[in-house]
Amino acid sequence: MKIAFYSAKEYDRELFEECGEEHEFLFLKDHLGVETASLALGFEVVCVFVNDELDRPVLELLYAAGVRFVALRCAGFNNVDVVAAAELGIMVARVPSYSPHAVAEHAVAMLLTLNRKTHRAYNRVREGNFELNGLMGFDLVGKTVGVFGSGKIGLVFCQIMKGFGCKVIVCDPYPSEEARQYTLVTKEELFSQADIVSLHCPLMEETYHLYDVETFAQSKRGFTLINTGRGGLVNAKASIDALKSGQLGYLGMDVYEEEKDYFFDDQSSGIIQDDVLMRLMTFPNVLITGHQGFFTKEALQGIVETTGENIMAYASGSELVNEVK
Ligand code: NAI
Repeated sequence: MKIAFYSAKEYDRELFEECGEEHEFLFLKDHLGVETASLALGFEVVCVFVNDELDRPVLELLYAAGVRFVALRCAGFNNVDVVAAAELGIMVARVPSYSPHAVAEHAVAMLLTLNRKTHRAYNRVREGNFELNGLMGFDLVGKTVGVFGSGKIGLVFCQIMKGFGCKVIVCDPYPSEEARQYTLVTKEELFSQADIVSLHCPLMEETYHLYDVETFAQSKRGFTLINTGRGGLVNAKASIDALKSGQLGYLGMDVYEEEKDYFFDDQSSGIIQDDVLMRLMTFPNVLITGHQGFFTKEALQGIVETTGENIMAYASGSELVNEVK
């Protein structure tokens, strides 16, 4: 298969070349969008990631270029106009699961860092400053942890928090049998009861700006919010006001609504134009990571394997078990 590989990083190239010797890859550093879709001319398959844009105009350009299959190397597919793809006859497959532990453990890492301020302690100690002022945290045991979305990642997160001795409450309109061992609540109950909230639901119309002015106001004063789901789940501007007023005590963001222009690239020599992102970076109680929740050896291996299987299933015309419809 001839595969145009967008948003390619060095680690992608190494892993995919090693496992896909039978394919011909074109590795492109660019994100997929209207300006770059024509680079796929003559390629039947495009392989894309979270910040590639696959709206109707892009899909039409891809179709005209000869693309018939989109292999997402991620779980979320909110960046694909699935209806347009189906109408054009372009098949789409994703990697529904690749080490849910990677993302859940990153959410926990963010929580522990924010709470115990190890990011600040690290810098202080390196400068010979062993003072503790400003580093006080809180015990996790006994705290109420609210989890939006009890799918693969959410359930691992619940299990870890249960291990810490937290009371875990879950909001999910379609809870699995496994999720039912936790206290199921409405979103209003979750807002008002949770000391710590972690977002593990997909970004959809119903979940867009799940955290906004009104819902920040309905939450417990000083609560902690961890978002490793998708940026659009939180209105970032509203989170700044909530942080300034103390309504939001701590914010951990692995994802950001406008991350497309910045994340995954070295921006250290340029001027970041996004004032919301820059303001968020100034808070001592905000921790931002650049969409690295998935980034473990095991998860990347899983992504490579499943993407390879998806491409092989498409090429051989066999059942595409991970098709996005
Ligand atoms: P999943 O599909 O296994 O679980 C999603 C859960 O959310 C399901 O149980 C579903 O019923 C629930 N849900 C649907 N609508 C909801 C709503 N309105 N309110 C609450 N829950 C709702 O997905 P998985 O694998 O657990 O991934 C969750 C999300 O994590 C993905 O959608 C993706 O956006 C994000 N993700 C982030 C990564 C990162 O590197 N930061 C990597 C992988 C995924």
